[in-house]
Amino acid sequence: VFASVVRAPEDPILGVTVAYNKDPSRVKLNLGVGAYRTEEGKPLVLNVVRKAEQLLVNDKSRVKEYLPIVGLADFNKLSAKLIFGADSPAIKENRVTTVQCLSGTGSLRVGAEFLARHYHQLTIYIPQPTWGNHPKVFTLAGLSVKTYRYYDPATRGLNFQGLLEDLGSAPSGAIVLLHACAHNPTGVDPTLEQWEQIRQLMRSKGLLPFFDSAYQGFASGSLDADAQSVRMFVADGGECLVAQSYAKNMGLYGERVGALSIVCKTEDVASRVESQLKLVIRPMYSSPPIHGASLVATILKDSNMYHEWTLELKAMADRIISMRQQLFDALSARGTPGDWSHIIKQIGMFTFTGLNSEQVAFMTKEYHVYMTSDGRISMAGLSTKTIPHLVDAIHAAVTR
Ligand code: LMR
Repeated sequence: VFASVVRAPEDPILGVTVAYNKDPSRVKLNLGVGAYRTEEGKPLVLNVVRKAEQLLVNDKSRVKEYLPIVGLADFNKLSAKLIFGADSPAIKENRVTTVQCLSGTGSLRVGAEFLARHYHQLTIYIPQPTWGNHPKVFTLAGLSVKTYRYYDPATRGLNFQGLLEDLGSAPSGAIVLLHACAHNPTGVDPTLEQWEQIRQLMRSKGLLPFFDSAYQGFASGSLDADAQSVRMFVADGGECLVAQSYAKNMGLYGERVGALSIVCKTEDVASRVESQLKLVIRPMYSSPPIHGASLVATILKDSNMYHEWTLELKAMADRIISMRQQLFDALSARGTPGDWSHIIKQIGMFTFTGLNSEQVAFMTKEYHVYMTSDGRISMAGLSTKTIPHLVDAIHAAVTR
């Protein structure tokens, strides 16, 4: 009965790892998926996560009962505090509902399903370009996806004018997806002044912000600084949605830990919204898994562990910044044609190199360098040892 099923293509990001794994080459390099690697090229489990895990294992009172539909209460409270700030008026006034979801993607999907059922305007504007999964998540939830200009290939920076024009002509009430920080794939963020202009424009048109916060702590190394964009929109008293992921900043990729928060106007509205979120979640996966959320809650509520986490997070962010500098220096030393200064200007996990899909295909075929076809490279996948090989590949690709 399934004989007519057509083979689907691999995922444009996760499929890069599938291809990499099949390649027997000894010099192969995976700069596709945004997952942190050590200088030795190994995945990293943070020390503080290991400690939290040990505490959980030793606590014999812990059981494996189902969590409530909305997840672990402590985790939800602490996650809201992390993104909105400890003194957020919205939290104090109980206007925020936070539900534990399956990492960033699950949080986006639950938020989108809720909007499709309960919000009057079903159009969502996403930046051009954006993370490849965004349009799929929103379309499958029943929203209609449009794009707004974001990246300017000529300057390899923000197309701020285009962004303002496109949001300015969006229909009133439309939903707008914003990357809270460390925009994926471009590594280009608005400045705080630009965020303020975006906020004013969006509020004046009644556009609804839906933040994707997958890299808090990775843009600047500071958790608070990276939450500024979100906090500006909460400080004005208006509504917004925020999807949080602990995949990158706590290295909990496979644990699938994240949260969706919806900031409402009143406590009563927030509690009604939460009752509807439960109706979205229950038929989808019933309730979220307990382990990863317990790890996060353990770390966030202990001031020593929290501090240790911030240091480890900063070390990851710093290693990425050092990779940017080293790659830029190596390309300059090699005399590779072109202006590569965007490598040190862009922030977060990725560099949007400007290499086109043919050049990427060439680098993969001839140099076994794996990256997404839009020219994005994960800086976290690089090390001092592998930079010369990448430089050889880029040099050959641009001088062919
Ligand atoms: C990425 O963009 O590489 C990450 O967000 C991982 C993913 O799920 O695509």
